[in-house]
Amino acid sequence: MKILVVGNGGREHCLVWKIAQSKYVDRIYTAPGNPGTAEYGENVDIDGLDIDNLLKFALEKEIDLTFVGPEAPLVGGIVDRFQGAGLKAFGPVKNAAILEGSKVFAKGFMKKYGIPTAEYKVFNNAEEALEYIKDKGAPIVVKAEGLAAGKGVVVAKELSTAVEAVESMLIEKKFGSSGQRIVVEEYLEGEEATVLAFVDGKTIVPMIASQDHKQAYDEDRGPNTGGMGAYAPAPLVDEKMMEKVKREILFPTLEGLKSEGIDYKGVLYTGILIKDGSPKVIEYNVRFGDPEAQVVLPLLKTDLVEIALAVIEGSLSELEIEWFDKKALCVIMASGGYPMEYEKGKLISGIDKVDGRDDLLVFQAGTKLVDGELYTDGGRVLAVTAIGSSFMEVIEKAYSGVEKIYFPDFHIRHDIGHKALKYI
Ligand code: AMP
Ligand code: GLY
Repeated sequence: MKILVVGNGGREHCLVWKIAQSKYVDRIYTAPGNPGTAEYGENVDIDGLDIDNLLKFALEKEIDLTFVGPEAPLVGGIVDRFQGAGLKAFGPVKNAAILEGSKVFAKGFMKKYGIPTAEYKVFNNAEEALEYIKDKGAPIVVKAEGLAAGKGVVVAKELSTAVEAVESMLIEKKFGSSGQRIVVEEYLEGEEATVLAFVDGKTIVPMIASQDHKQAYDEDRGPNTGGMGAYAPAPLVDEKMMEKVKREILFPTLEGLKSEGIDYKGVLYTGILIKDGSPKVIEYNVRFGDPEAQVVLPLLKTDLVEIALAVIEGSLSELEIEWFDKKALCVIMASGGYPMEYEKGKLISGIDKVDGRDDLLVFQAGTKLVDGELYTDGGRVLAVTAIGSSFMEVIEKAYSGVEKIYFPDFHIRHDIGHKALKYI
């Protein structure tokens, strides 16, 4: 089979790495890809949002199956366009991707189908929003309705931060049309986990749970990022909790989607917050997480292409999905300054010192090759991923990998995985 992967981050490098192991696959193209994905096939210079040219390319090359990594093309309807042209694409169609594309839709959906989530109210008027926020007090959470590359959520510990967020979204229009409406939400305490699931419209099968580290600095301090590291399986979601998540969240979500006439196929990401044994949904995404993919996919034993085909055909219930009985953990090496301003173009050295091992993998995100040398080219640069038998082992192994790699001003968190240790 000829495969096309859309995207250019660490998640897509990991997807390509996993797809390359499939017995069905002859050739992999990635659009636009990064130097990491190029090692498994060919990068194609088409932006992930350029659906017209992606479709043209896929038709020309007779691509058998397309994987869409990021949310923006999914919300933009890439899967509908590919299907319309008779091509197979793994991911939800546009009217299903709205679960991530509109937080107003997602909240309304959860309310309608009794899926536990934070209390909220929707506003398009700044004055009314400010009045509500002053009435409720801090901590409180302000979210832009639409896609904002992970920057549209403000968890305000102080009232002034919430006021600033409302003003920047509704008055200064910082997020353009994505921030025309906002969700103001009750602040939830607890510990976060990610439960990804394969969905074929009729059946929902959870993957092993994982845990991201969203804040920029150690001990969950500092601004929110796209994710500074992750591990799986997250011990917070033990067997009993997973049953609860299925019963209270995943099954009602699928039933709700069916009732709405939405044929959801692909990966469903539920970000959950657990307090006193009760899980609540803080967000739905319609794709693999980044960096969650980099720890979940290395533990997936089953052929991902086989799963994708079953999802598309609606035969997921007939497939047994298997996992390695191991742990995986990744540490993100980011550019100094990320998630605020940072410089690009720093020379990266040392990846060759960890290359070639199957228990220590370096997934590339914001990188670029210039004259055969690798340079930084984004906020999150590398995901150094270790696989092993215990969390102690994978923490040590991942950080030993990080120690061998260098670029000026790199930024890491030093405590990835520490939360997992408290369960041992
Ligand atoms: P989201 O993009 O909705 O996942 O939000 C980004 C991050 O903000 C989440 O991963 C949480 O850490 C935090 N967050 C979002 N909503 C809430 C909430 N209601 N209470 C507490 N933290 C939240
Ligand atoms: N790691 C968070 C996300 O992918 O949305």
